Amino acid sequence: MILDALGYTDHSPAHTKLVAERAADLLDSFGFGEDVIRLAKIAGFMHDIGNAISRHHHAEYGALLANEILKETDLALQDRVHIVSAIANHDESYGVASDPVSAALIIADKTDVRRSRVRPKDPILFDVHDRVNYAVTATELGCAPQEKRITLCLTIDERICTMYEYFDIFLARMTMCSHAARILDAQFSLKVNGQKVL
Ligand SMILES: [Fe+2]
Ligand SMILES: [Fe+2]
Repeated sequence: MILDALGYTDHSPAHTKLVAERAADLLDSFGFGEDVIRLAKIAGFMHDIGNAISRHHHAEYGALLANEILKETDLALQDRVHIVSAIANHDESYGVASDPVSAALIIADKTDVRRSRVRPKDPILFDVHDRVNYAVTATELGCAPQEKRITLCLTIDERICTMYEYFDIFLARMTMCSHAARILDAQFSLKVNGQKVL
């Protein structure tokens, strides 16, 4: 609600559900067990709760809030640390993947690029974040565990956003995904309109 008022792209339950499911699918594809998958799902559902306090530093605020909530549950301390640390490290401005839970969370979150994340508004009011998301007409995250590869395939309408604008917004996120993929012993690739660009 707060981010809606400030005009940010969608960080609602639709986003957190997609992130939780994508992180779980990713870990499942790479052969991780139910215990790790469960932690990634919890981290996915909770990762953006810090936005309720502030968009800036929302990852750290979110980790503190998640810790307060999770310490009231029967979750083991070690599991709680994995979740809280993944939430604290999911933002590209300073975060970094350090284990499979944080790696899966980062890849699932940073690859959620889609037209439906743009809040309904007059296109004349679109900022570059709106344009970059609005330009993406199809997104597919492919996992090839045998080839140790994770590939994000985007279809971008270049009449709406140029490749320069896309990379201006997403280069740091794609670099973060690349590092996260290595934690999963995989390579991260990006294809835009059928062309491999990363
Ligand atoms: Fe976030
Ligand atoms: Fe997010």
